[in-house]
Amino acid sequence: MTSLKKLFDNNKVWSDNVKEKDPEFFSNLSKQQTPEYLWIGCSDSRVPATQILNLQPGDIFVHRNIANQALHSDFSCLSVIQYAVEALKVKHIIVCGHYGCGGVMASMGDDDLGLINHWLQNIKTVQRFHAEELNSITDHQEKVNRLCELNVVEQVRNICNNSVVQNAWKSGQQLTVHGLIYSLADGILKDLEVSVDGSNQ
Ligand code: CO
Repeated sequence: MTSLKKLFDNNKVWSDNVKEKDPEFFSNLSKQQTPEYLWIGCSDSRVPATQILNLQPGDIFVHRNIANQALHSDFSCLSVIQYAVEALKVKHIIVCGHYGCGGVMASMGDDDLGLINHWLQNIKTVQRFHAEELNSITDHQEKVNRLCELNVVEQVRNICNNSVVQNAWKSGQQLTVHGLIYSLADGILKDLEVSVDGSNQ
């Protein structure tokens, strides 16, 4: 059996470094979490929320899945949204996609990927909704990247229709849903400017 020694060693170094900078860090954080943000992002190893936002443990509540989807049939994502909005009272829900997303690319093909094909079905629907625009793009990579953006916009809409989010807005809770996209090529986030805060839904 191969071991996880490297990871345990890394963890010890990290923990020691954090404690050196702030001896109270873990004891303070272990008492409660009060993140202001919920992040719904892709599982892609190159898009780790806390790191790319230069935040610390405790700053952001995270849900990740293949191709950053927020589907009404996904109890895991729905539960995360409910807990984040009702219990943690996050002020922002961020859907973040990334250019060159493998899940989005796979949804454009016909390969038999088993269960993943079912998971990506929703993105095929997004593609159908926007067929005219997407078909006008001749460059394949550009087409993939535009679908990555459109997928984020659709997930923002899904979240805005979520009853937990709707109820939060009705009760006057401060909550904004945002759509962002990340570039693997330069590490920069872009705001897709589709933010909704309940007053403009
Ligand atoms: Co991805």
